[in-house]
Amino acid sequence: MKVVLPGGTGQVGGVLRRALTAAGHEVVVLTRRPVRDCEVRWDGRTLGPWAEAVDGSDVVINLAGRSVSCRYTDENLRAMMDSRVDSARVVGEAIAAARKPPAVWLQMSTATVYAHRFDAPNDEATGVIGGDESGVPGYWAYSVQIARNWEREQERAVTPHTRKVALRAAMVMSPDRGGVFDYLLWLTRLGLGGPVAGGAQYVSWIHDRDLVRAVEFLIARDDITGPVNLAAPDPLPQREFMRALRGAWGMPVGLPATRWMAEIGAFVLRTDTELLLKSRRVVPGRLTDAGFTFDHGAWPDAAADLVRRTRRERSRSRRTAARP
Ligand SMILES: NC(=O)c1ccc[n+]([C@@H]2O[C@H](COP(=O)([O-])OP(=O)(O)OC[C@H]3O[C@@H](n4cnc5c(N)ncnc54)[C@H](OP(=O)(O)O)[C@@H]3O)[C@@H](O)[C@H]2O)c1
Repeated sequence: MKVVLPGGTGQVGGVLRRALTAAGHEVVVLTRRPVRDCEVRWDGRTLGPWAEAVDGSDVVINLAGRSVSCRYTDENLRAMMDSRVDSARVVGEAIAAARKPPAVWLQMSTATVYAHRFDAPNDEATGVIGGDESGVPGYWAYSVQIARNWEREQERAVTPHTRKVALRAAMVMSPDRGGVFDYLLWLTRLGLGGPVAGGAQYVSWIHDRDLVRAVEFLIARDDITGPVNLAAPDPLPQREFMRALRGAWGMPVGLPATRWMAEIGAFVLRTDTELLLKSRRVVPGRLTDAGFTFDHGAWPDAAADLVRRTRRERSRSRRTAARP
């Protein structure tokens, strides 16, 4: 297959690019700053020569969007919104204009679209869309609005020959530097991987290899359209999630943090506490109903696998760096 990855230079793009290339597919990445051979320049907003890469491709997986790991200032929130809505719109325009459109367009969305809740898991059929919760910071509703507008842009695209799926992805856990697992492991190794604000808030996650398998499954299953949750079936409260990670690394302590300590930490790290404090209890209803099974469905096993791979990759890069 020829697979086009708009915004494929980030963490998720790296995971998909490596796996799809290893499986023998041709991968083209659309980026604002092309460096490698397989990369093509675009601006994420306007049609241009890059659209030729979409014409004749088999699959488009749009990952573009300003990183959510930042301070949620008005300016950054607007950039998070615009980069997602604009890129989804222009990808739709390229597919609509293609002489030979791709069979499927997987559009990244996010598990953050669901409400902050503890009482029950959110699947696609019965889940509660967020934005109306009480007792949470007002700007959390904006993140939900970003996800809704992102999905709406894909829905409204007129692409009659291209199947459309929105990927409501939970946190993607991979050993890559700069990814969310790397960050959580760093905190764990510092002894700071304890409960935050009590740790009752749920963490939804997906192991990188299951993410790839789920994407391949959704490409192959031409009966599936619309939103699909990409999350392991085992979301768990943050304090249990971190306990399992500490166990996997072999770190006996994980100091707890209060909400205000988390606020200070987030300020210092130029990120936002919504990523830590929102309860994301999301389960893979449609994937499971369609017969998909997870290789790493339980967090303690997934964490052990990720720690093993992280250690292996780090010792390999140390050996490479030490070579004369
Ligand atoms: N990682 C996760 O755990 C996770 C979970 C759920 C959803 N998601 C979503 O999945 C997508 C990919 O995630 P990721 O972690 O790989 O993100 P990432 O590392 O931040 O990469 C996203 C890519 O989007 C491009 N981009 C950034 N700002 C842009 C703009 N203004 N216009 C056009 N392109 C822009 C960048 O590519 P260039 O700079 O090369 O142009 C960047 O490499 C994101 O939209 C993210 O919100 C991620």
